[in-house]
Amino acid sequence: MCGIIGYCGPKPMANVLVEALKRMEYRGYDSAGIAVRSGSELTVIKRAGKIAALREAVPAEIPGDCGIGHTRWATHGGVTDHNAHPHLDASGKVAVVHNGIIENYAVLREKLSADGVEFKSETDSEVIAHLIGRLYEGDLTATVQQVVQLLKGTYGIAVLHIDEPGTVVGARNGSPLVLGIGEHEMFLASDVTAILGHTKQAIYLEDGEVVTVTADEYRTTDLNDRKIDKNIQIINWELEEIEKGGYQHYMEKEIFEQPDSITRAMQGRLDHENATGHLGGLNMTKKELLDLERVKIIAAGTSYYAGLVASYLIESIARIPCTVELAAEVRYRNPIVERNSVYFAVSQSGETADTLYAMRELQRKGARVLGICNVVGASIPRESDGGVYIHSGPEIAVASTKAFTSQLTALYIFTLLIARMRHMSLEEGTRFVQALEEVPERVSEVLQSAPAIAELARKYHSARSFLFLGRGINYPVAFEGALKLKEISYIHAEGYSAAEVKHGPIALIGPETPSLFLVPDDALREKVISNMKEVQARDGRVIAVCVEGDHEVAALADDVIMVPKVHELMYPFVMTVPLQLFAYYTALELGRNVDQPRNLAKSVTVE
Ligand code: AGP
Repeated sequence: MCGIIGYCGPKPMANVLVEALKRMEYRGYDSAGIAVRSGSELTVIKRAGKIAALREAVPAEIPGDCGIGHTRWATHGGVTDHNAHPHLDASGKVAVVHNGIIENYAVLREKLSADGVEFKSETDSEVIAHLIGRLYEGDLTATVQQVVQLLKGTYGIAVLHIDEPGTVVGARNGSPLVLGIGEHEMFLASDVTAILGHTKQAIYLEDGEVVTVTADEYRTTDLNDRKIDKNIQIINWELEEIEKGGYQHYMEKEIFEQPDSITRAMQGRLDHENATGHLGGLNMTKKELLDLERVKIIAAGTSYYAGLVASYLIESIARIPCTVELAAEVRYRNPIVERNSVYFAVSQSGETADTLYAMRELQRKGARVLGICNVVGASIPRESDGGVYIHSGPEIAVASTKAFTSQLTALYIFTLLIARMRHMSLEEGTRFVQALEEVPERVSEVLQSAPAIAELARKYHSARSFLFLGRGINYPVAFEGALKLKEISYIHAEGYSAAEVKHGPIALIGPETPSLFLVPDDALREKVISNMKEVQARDGRVIAVCVEGDHEVAALADDVIMVPKVHELMYPFVMTVPLQLFAYYTALELGRNVDQPRNLAKSVTVE
């Protein structure tokens, strides 16, 4: 996924563009570049490396009336200056930045090369610049409308032309593009974090739409130049929410924000009198909810693990079958959509291509798909049949933390809602609501263990591989903990059922492969202790995350992280946070780029 910015207005162009790219660096950060138009000049500066490398190369001021910029997550072609965007056409009059994948670029490139076009990069995106340059006859909008119809795949683009003063044209298909409306200035960006410091008025483009932007006006059309009226939405985030607020990293800030973010995810959604949930956005009648016979969840990465936790809860307290699938697998396996079922597409960004395309395929087959998302106005919430925003506030760190616990919160409330429509009694519901409302406070207590967890990270940071082991509703938490560690520390880590280790993975056990066990005081505690002993009998070092006062487990383990006692269904919340902290401090110890780990991007908007 990449970051795109376009600007038309009087502000210092270089500063506006580079600052915006800096705010979107989490979207992709292997190279970056800008292009500024002024009179008959097109200034293009692009560099491999982080935005800092680009900032170094960009002069303090570049006169211009419009400009575009890009921060790249490489999909085609290595990380080089040449492959960085913007890309130019042969005449050097057209500059293009692109987010997405042009699936038919090879055919287009071949045709263009046969016509004598010389390519300067290995990217798919460069074909767009050449096509526009060759078909341009004085109307950039018309040319973009024509060219994008030649493309197969996904794009969010911003284009400028030397002969069109103060004008940027954008087009979207599958990759997000938002128009920011200011006072005598306009912005085009991949997401609102790039424009939040300038305006809160935003228009979200849909697939197949084109927008022509100047400092004082904009025009949105379809590909046949038919005007489309769009609603202006107000961005509901504050600028300071996308700042670090005194923390060393966004990830640290977002881990420590969880008592608040979990609270926000609950706000206005618990009916204490009836001990049930209240989720306005489901767009389902009580009868539809009562008739539900199956819940299915699709997601990727951390969101997938949130779905797995929820599936245990839904089956255990709502007594409805629930399956969870990797979104990327659903789309291409010709899924069976059952009557009286509902799907949840769980996605922090709301732009993950695997999840978005799977949702579209399920909807094509008649499924009802609800989004559990964080970013208002993103593709999944806009295209879903309803859903729940988790209100975490912007999650900037690539490694997802607060969104995970807020996704759980939303799914827990949904489960309570349908459980109380079935067999769950008022008393049971009241206990559940009480336990859920205690979670933020319990998470605050866990956060106080941060220094001890940092110490543990210092002790174990040289391990070359880790096993994370849990059972029951905490089994997915083991996977989430393993994902956190590997994606920011680059240490190999595997999540496993604590019971399953003896069926093979125990061969990995030795002093060099520590195991981290989740040992809540639930019905499976004794079983997990047995699994711990199996590992220790083979010289495996064991870190146990267990409940305060559990001296038996503390005595058994080599090291221990204590968490407060909670309702047995709430342990996923208090067991996840120590794993987030462990990964964070381990990555720090190893000198990793915690907020922007290598090879990754915050939201993967390509398949
Ligand atoms: C989580 O830490 C990872 N960055 C990644 O697995 C992420 O959860 C996944 O790409 C899904 O993103 P989404 O929630 O925005 O759809």
